Amino acid sequence: MLTLDTTRPLMRALLLENIHPDASARLAKAGYEVETLSRALGEDELAGAVRGVSLLGIRSQTHLTERVLAAVPRLAAVGAFCIGVNQIDLAAASRHGVAVFNAPFSNTRSVVELAIAEIIAMARRLPEKNTRMHAGEWDKSAAGSHEVRGRRLGIVGYGNIGTQLSVIAESLGMSVYFYDIADKLAIGNARRCSTLTELLESVETVTLHVDGRDGNRGFFGEAEFAAMRPRSLFLNLSRGFVVDHAALRRNIESGHIAGAAIDVFPEEPKARGEEFRSELRGLPNVILTPHIGGSTEEAQQDIGEFVAGKLADYMASGATSLSVNLPGITLPAVPGTHRLVHLHRNVPGVLASINRVLAEHGVNVEGQLLRTRDDLGYVLTDIGTEYSDEVLAELRAMDVTIRLRTIPSA
Ligand code: NAI
Repeated sequence: MLTLDTTRPLMRALLLENIHPDASARLAKAGYEVETLSRALGEDELAGAVRGVSLLGIRSQTHLTERVLAAVPRLAAVGAFCIGVNQIDLAAASRHGVAVFNAPFSNTRSVVELAIAEIIAMARRLPEKNTRMHAGEWDKSAAGSHEVRGRRLGIVGYGNIGTQLSVIAESLGMSVYFYDIADKLAIGNARRCSTLTELLESVETVTLHVDGRDGNRGFFGEAEFAAMRPRSLFLNLSRGFVVDHAALRRNIESGHIAGAAIDVFPEEPKARGEEFRSELRGLPNVILTPHIGGSTEEAQQDIGEFVAGKLADYMASGATSLSVNLPGITLPAVPGTHRLVHLHRNVPGVLASINRVLAEHGVNVEGQLLRTRDDLGYVLTDIGTEYSDEVLAELRAMDVTIRLRTIPSA
């Protein structure tokens, strides 16, 4: 069990892996002493560097293991300044009471803009025309080139990216159809399809924006390509493993699919310079990009601000909305109170026990909110500023307590 005193005047944040400078600026503004490093750290180096640090920022190359988490009891929260959090042992973070935040939609717009650019580029057969021009060949023919206005776009996976693409595609005059396994509100004039086959048979361009759940492995293969209308266009900017690339190649070679734009691959080079291998290399009217859908300076900046903001808010008010591992709570501050931030094991009766301790010491509750998630319970309690250390000691001593901290109101 840990107790963190956030009333200490200077708290430290460590940001690794070249996180956008806006993150440092945001944390410095919130009163943190911020140290930055351009590289990732290995386990031992990381455990040493994080000692005495309250907030840690990483991207995809730093692995946060149970061993490191166990060695850095002051660490309160971790920001993954990216989308994925596979590099963090989330169960261990929860066990040690460390909140984890990421940026689930900071690069949504970037992916959408790339998809739109590729839809237009393929409809105009730009990949081929560009290649021919570089080879000295001048061909002004309009054959096979189309406007996207009035054409039907099928979006598979109507989440953050799918819905935003829906709006922008409609503003270009496209008719949007979508299919999602979950019930989703149709935005604008988009039409919901009740099956994937219905969508594939309805549209001339199919774009995948499904998430990376295991069940989506290989979910788009020969049968799905066969169900598409002849001479359709196909895009995948979601996950590499959802598409059977051998089947896609066959369908491009046969002419059934007139063009494809692929940003994600079942196997991607781990580092710059490593050869990119794919059965899709060398095909006409196929745009291949190295998983850059979300890679823009704007997205990096937004990620920096967004995640740093989540970390600062968590420390200042206990807010956990959009936390990857803690129950989500936001409770407006009540002036003239202190906030008790209590993370505990999710077993029945904890709230009653907390309130019994408070009542026994004559402490009045001004506001309180509890949420649970899996094995964790999280409760914010606003109390008057007059209370003894004994109150905190008793709350700390509860055997369900994982972490307790107090936040004075602003
Ligand atoms: P999201 O979680 O907001 O939306 C995914 C949607 O797909 C959900 O509505 C879900 O119900 C639906 N879905 C899942 N499986 C499905 C299936 N088999 N059939 C139909 N619908 C299905 O995710 P978001 O933020 O829109 O991202 C979408 C994808 O884009 C993710 O796989 C993400 O990893 C990827 N991505 C790729 C980037 C790139 O650089 N190329 C950058 C950012 C995200």
